[in-house]
Formats: sequence, C-alpha cells, structure tokens
Amino acid sequence: MLKGKTVFVSGGTGHVGSDICRTFHEYGAQVVFSYHRNEEAARKLETEIPASRAVRMDLRDVNNIRTTIEKLYEDVKIIHALVNNAAISQIMPLPLVEEEDVDLIMDINIKGTLFVTKNILKGMIRNKTGVIVNLSSIAGTRMLDVPVTYAMTKAAMNGFTFALAGELKRFGIRVNSVVPGLLDGGVGQGVPDALRKDFIDHCAAGRAGKAREVAELICFLASDRASYINGQSIAVDGGI
Ligand SMILES: NC(=O)c1ccc[n+]([C@@H]2O[C@H](COP(=O)([O-])OP(=O)(O)OC[C@H]3O[C@@H](n4cnc5c(N)ncnc54)[C@H](OP(=O)(O)O)[C@@H]3O)[C@@H](O)[C@H]2O)c1
Repeated sequence: MLKGKTVFVSGGTGHVGSDICRTFHEYGAQVVFSYHRNEEAARKLETEIPASRAVRMDLRDVNNIRTTIEKLYEDVKIIHALVNNAAISQIMPLPLVEEEDVDLIMDINIKGTLFVTKNILKGMIRNKTGVIVNLSSIAGTRMLDVPVTYAMTKAAMNGFTFALAGELKRFGIRVNSVVPGLLDGGVGQGVPDALRKDFIDHCAAGRAGKAREVAELICFLASDRASYINGQSIAVDGGI
C-alpha cells in the first residue's frame, strides 16, 4: 500500500509513534522518525525497522526543528507523508495550572507541530507530492473529565487540519486528523482509574484501544487509497 513512499513520524519513540513506524514499514514505506529524550528507544526502533532513520528534534525549539528538517532533506530527497504524532499531556486541574505549564504544552503540541509541518511542507510543495496526518484526541472533541490544557491543544489539531487542507488543496496535498479514544498506553496511562472505567463502560468495544489500531487508519489515510478523503477528523475510539 505504501511501497516506494517515505514517511516522517514525529515522536516515533512513543507508545503510538513506534507502532505507527512499524505499521508504515509493514506496508512498504521507508520510515524516518523523530525522538526527543529517549535515545535508547530510538536506536532500538532503528535496529528493529530495516532502513529506518531516527533524528533528534525538540518541538519546543523552532530553530532546532528547521535545521533538523533542512539537514534531513539533504539526504532524504522526498518525504511523501508526514505524521504529526509527538505531543505531551498534563494531568492537573485548571486551578493548579501555571503560565509555564500552558507555554510548555502549547509550544510542543501546537507551535512545534506547526513548524514541523511548515518545514516538511516546503519539500512537499517543491516535490509536488504530500499527505499529512495529525494526531488529535477524543479529549479535544467530547465533554470528558480530562486535563483542559491537553484537550485544548488536541481540539486545535482539528482546526489546524481543516484550515491546512483548505490552504493546500491547490497543491494536491491532503490533510486529515485521526481522533483516538483512550488507548492502552502512552499519554492515556496517566488518566485516573475512574475516567478509564467511565470510558470503557461507554465504549462499544468495551476496552481501551491499541496503538496499532490507530496506526492502521493513519497508514490508510497516508496512502493513495484514501485519495478522496481530505480535511476530515476521523475517530478511532471503539464506538463512543
Ligand atoms: N495514548 C493515548 O491514549 C492517546 C489517546 C488519544 C490521542 N493520543 C495522541 O497520540 C499521540 C502519541 O501519544 P502517545 O500516547 O504515544 O504519547 P507518548 O508515548 O508519551 O509519546 C510521546 C512522544 O512525543 C515525543 N516528545 C515529547 N516531548 C517532545 C518534545 N519536546 N520534542 C519532540 N518530541 C517530543 C516523545 O519523545 P521521547 O520519548 O523521545 O522524549 C515521544 O516520542 C499524541 O499526539 C497524543 O495526543 C494518544
């Protein structure tokens, strides 16, 4: 499905990101992924996935994003697909949120994601090919007892997706977002037991989702099989 394509996945060392990388590889794509702190996981994944490549990138640092991607484009001439996966969550009620908390999550989840996209996009426009998939979350689309800082950044991913799809239509570049429910690892690990139980009680599948189940949709959206799907936010939540 993705033979001959090259994908860039931000946050490939994370719970969802590593399965996104594995799934892209299984569908035939060459995988480039970023990591931030977890160099050990990055090297392990590089060894596990043939011909993959890890690059260190800090989404809090716009200059670092630009230079990392410019350097990458010197070696990897075409990036066909971008998956904006890297993000953080914060488990705290609003009365405890400080300015630096808001700055941090906005810098990584929104500003950093925007500048990764901007810099990858330059090559996509130059090469006249590209598809972008953003990671949103059910936290950004439903009324749930989840951290507000996280929820607002994930809601922003949908607005980012809609507007960018409109802006890029003239280049034939599609932009969609996936909206996972609660998953069995990663940022979902931090949710309180009561919320986990509530989610599972209201989920038709009766369980948390697996990263692989999200990765399958992302790979489909990144492939030419999804050529008529653009500007959408698509849920993978087991049925809520
Ligand atoms: N897990 C869930 O239940 C769930 C549900 C809905 C949506 N999602 C979405 O799925 C995506 C992946 O989540 P996850 O659960 O896989 O999270 P995760 O396991 O915590 O992984 C987060 C990834 O982001 C990277 N990262 C963190 N800070 C960074 C920074 N400053 N610069 C660059 N990269 C940074 C991490 O890199 P290092 O590890 O190398 O530091 C890691 O690769 C997120 O967008 C999340 O909102 C997850």
